[in-house]
Amino acid sequence: MIVVTGATGNVGRVLTETLAAAGEPVTAVSRGTLPVPVSDGIRYHRADLADPETLRPALAGARALFLLVSGAGADLSPDDILDVAKASGVRRIVLLSSQAAGTRPQSISHAPLRGIENVVRQSGMAWTILRPGGFASNAYAWAEAVRSRRTVAAPFGDVGLPVVDPADIAEVAATVLRDDQHAGQIYELTGPTLTTPRKRARILGEALGEPIRFVEQTPEQARAQMLQFMPEPVVDGTLSILGDPTPPEKRISPHTAEILGRAPRTFDDWTQRHVDAFR
Ligand SMILES: NC(=O)c1ccc[n+]([C@@H]2O[C@H](COP(=O)([O-])OP(=O)(O)OC[C@H]3O[C@@H](n4cnc5c(N)ncnc54)[C@H](OP(=O)(O)O)[C@@H]3O)[C@@H](O)[C@H]2O)c1
Repeated sequence: MIVVTGATGNVGRVLTETLAAAGEPVTAVSRGTLPVPVSDGIRYHRADLADPETLRPALAGARALFLLVSGAGADLSPDDILDVAKASGVRRIVLLSSQAAGTRPQSISHAPLRGIENVVRQSGMAWTILRPGGFASNAYAWAEAVRSRRTVAAPFGDVGLPVVDPADIAEVAATVLRDDQHAGQIYELTGPTLTTPRKRARILGEALGEPIRFVEQTPEQARAQMLQFMPEPVVDGTLSILGDPTPPEKRISPHTAEILGRAPRTFDDWTQRHVDAFR
């Protein structure tokens, strides 16, 4: 049995369904604020990573754990989470980290994630770390303005990044959770091409069959908006990546294609599957 945390989110929902479809018994874990996945082979357990003891019943009898720490993970005690996992007999762990944990080794925003990576690496378990770049699903932040005004407002309209489809992250996770050969590896996960915010807005408009107006925000406007729902260090770290990506952050990683044997999904593909959220 495999335990998936963050099981109701962009990555975890696809991961639980992919594992269950492959015949793998899954325990899906979240705090229960979003609808839970319902499918044959998926058991649901409500738990809060901030209180690792609540994970113990889910982990009993599990052989592998997918660990997704929402946000920067600053409030969590990774040592306690891994102690519960090890005491429950879990032998393999796959951590969803972030590309910036590697590309921005000094950043305050990703310090908690780097700390969690270190705990995972020193756990004695068979570990694999996934470091995705920016998610295609971050476009959900535009959904309300697209629905109501057919407008996207974003900073750095002409800076391209290889955004990654969460479904690809989920498929990579489903593979490495079940295969020992990935132990001790760190995989960067990106999309197949660089796209700019302006281009992503155009792709959304094409999928809707209606043009979308792109309004370039100043970094200050974007910062003020993001501070409404993200902690300040995370906002500043994110804006730095969006506006001034380093060469490694603009590189197309080969890892998704190597692991899945196919090219990563495009932003067009993500849009086709999620366009209803923007209608
Ligand atoms: N977005 C990006 O561009 C990007 C880039 C790189 C890395 N990442 C990483 O990707 C992760 C986000 O993935 P996602 O988009 O799939 O997430 P998401 O859609 O935001 O969903 C978060 C999931 O975690 C659960 N959750 C949140 N807090 C929890 C807690 N304290 N205990 C148990 N479950 C909790 C949520 O359910 P409940 O709320 O019901 O608990 C939900 O299932 C983060 O770790 C982030 O650092 C994101």
